[in-house]
Amino acid sequence: MSVVSAVPFMKPVHMRSPVPQGRRHTLPASEFRSLSPEDAISVFEIEREAFISVSGECPLHLDEVRHFLTLCPELSLGWFEEGRLVAFIIGSLWDQERLTMDALTLHKPHGTTVHIHVLAVHRTFRQQGKGSILMWRYLQYLRCLPYVRRAVLMCEDFLVPFYQKSGFKVQGPSEITVGPLTFIEMFYPVRGHAFMRRNSGC
Ligand SMILES: CC(C)(COP(=O)(O)OP(=O)(O)OC[C@H]1O[C@@H](n2cnc3c(N)ncnc32)[C@H](O)[C@@H]1OP(=O)(O)O)[C@@H](O)C(=O)NCCC(=O)NCCS
Repeated sequence: MSVVSAVPFMKPVHMRSPVPQGRRHTLPASEFRSLSPEDAISVFEIEREAFISVSGECPLHLDEVRHFLTLCPELSLGWFEEGRLVAFIIGSLWDQERLTMDALTLHKPHGTTVHIHVLAVHRTFRQQGKGSILMWRYLQYLRCLPYVRRAVLMCEDFLVPFYQKSGFKVQGPSEITVGPLTFIEMFYPVRGHAFMRRNSGC
């Protein structure tokens, strides 16, 4: 028996129908993956609408997005719908208990704290659970990184309940201010979830 007839579901290469030139490949309906510097423009477009148009400030400027996606792409997560970025998280490592101004621009490769710089959802996809789901997936992923002890972020007062729903706890007011904006620092004990980690398939 030839190899071909013994494997009925596999057509030999010369029997496969040729893919017509110019035919569009179908993009996955939903995909989660780490971001790369090539995604920086899409990231910044969402940031521009979400932050700059509201307060004139944003967590990461375009060069900073590129900087972190070059240094630590594995600490980012993007949600793509049919190839289009709809939500993202960008993180880097930090090596102190509390966030200082340096944390806004530095990645400390030997740190054990993930500093979540930004979570943002494209305007047309908000209030659909995407921000919460993306954060949940990100925290699950962090549990699989042996060097990560906790995650921290800073947010404005009104978003504290949102992050509490994801399991973050209030650390206290942040020493960081950006123009007139003040922030609350929050943390998530990644290493405190030994049982969940044992059962998370890492
Ligand atoms: C904040 C954000 C990430 C939430 O993502 P989302 O997908 O819209 O949120 P979900 O659908 O998962 O959850 C909705 C919950 O988020 C909270 N929330 C979202 N936006 C809020 C806002 N502007 N003010 C207060 N609470 C808000 C509410 O608790 C809401 O619950 P409710 O529907 O019961 O009121 C998204 O609105 C966003 O990108 N905003 C602009 C950028 C931003 O502020 N990012 C966070 C700072 S880094």
